[in-house]
Amino acid sequence: MSPRIEVRDLRTSYGQREILHGVDLDVRQGETLALLGPNGAGKSTTMEILEGLRGRGSGTVRVLGRDPESADDAWRGRIGVVLQTWRDQRDWTVESLLRHTSLYHEKPVDLEELAERIVLTDFLGQKIRHLSGGQRRRMDLALALVGRPEILFMDEPTVGLDPEARRAFHDVVSWVAAEEGVTTLFTTHDMAEADRLSDRIAILTGGRVTFTGTREEFSGLHGAGDTSVRWTEGGRSHRELTSDPSALITGLRNRLGSNVPGLEVRRQNLEDCYLAHVQSRKEASTA
Ligand SMILES: Nc1ncnc2c1ncn2[C@@H]1O[C@H](COP(=O)(O)OP(=O)(O)OP(=O)(O)O)[C@@H](O)[C@H]1O
Ligand SMILES: [Mg+2]
Repeated sequence: MSPRIEVRDLRTSYGQREILHGVDLDVRQGETLALLGPNGAGKSTTMEILEGLRGRGSGTVRVLGRDPESADDAWRGRIGVVLQTWRDQRDWTVESLLRHTSLYHEKPVDLEELAERIVLTDFLGQKIRHLSGGQRRRMDLALALVGRPEILFMDEPTVGLDPEARRAFHDVVSWVAAEEGVTTLFTTHDMAEADRLSDRIAILTGGRVTFTGTREEFSGLHGAGDTSVRWTEGGRSHRELTSDPSALITGLRNRLGSNVPGLEVRRQNLEDCYLAHVQSRKEASTA
């Protein structure tokens, strides 16, 4: 089956400045893909092009088999969007906006069930301009899901959510992926979230996607099996990456005694691998 989202050699500029230098990306049916990258890398720009909200310079883009630039309302009804920021309808209540939005869809979800899953029930009667940042984010997700989308685009959806709301949010995204086979593309700067939610990750650096694959494939590239060992010696904190932590710790114990001061041992996580990847791309581009 062809990918639900297909991007080939996508280029775009703001004025004279080219931001995307040839982005390639595929997202398959039912897959959740995390688009990662530094501030200003072009993640929101890419998402907006895929959502049909922004034109592009050149390249091929297909979302649900259509070019978003020339797509119609029927296509728009098949995608759900959580933007990084937007301002609108601030005097409406949450419920009136959700009900209004559901009118535009053929098979809207059950609003009560959705509100409950997103922990939004208590705020349904509240005016949108009176919502806190995290409450607003839950409403944004509810709006994106109201029409049973086939594709969900979410740009930094969990910024400002408290841990409980964040967990509820992750559960809802996993639920729609499992129940409805929704294909999801989302951005985040929270590597634990990317790790938890995504089937695959893509990294946008220097205007291109410089890695696409699973977390396992990614950590295989960047220090597979490397363990970070920290300790304190001579009044200073030390850190070493090793594939043989036992040998390193034995050496430390021989030198510093059985109770090594400040000893901390942990496997490299997605954030460590991400930082190593971004750093290596920076070095490659300035070499
Ligand atoms: N409307 C605009 N006009 C001019 N430049 C813009 C515009 N929107 C974004 N840019 C620039 O394009 C680049 C990419 O921005 P974009 O918002 O896509 O990045 P991002 O990866 O989403 O970053 P962040 O992680 O901070 O959200 C940035 O350098 C930004 O300053
Ligand atoms: Mg952004």
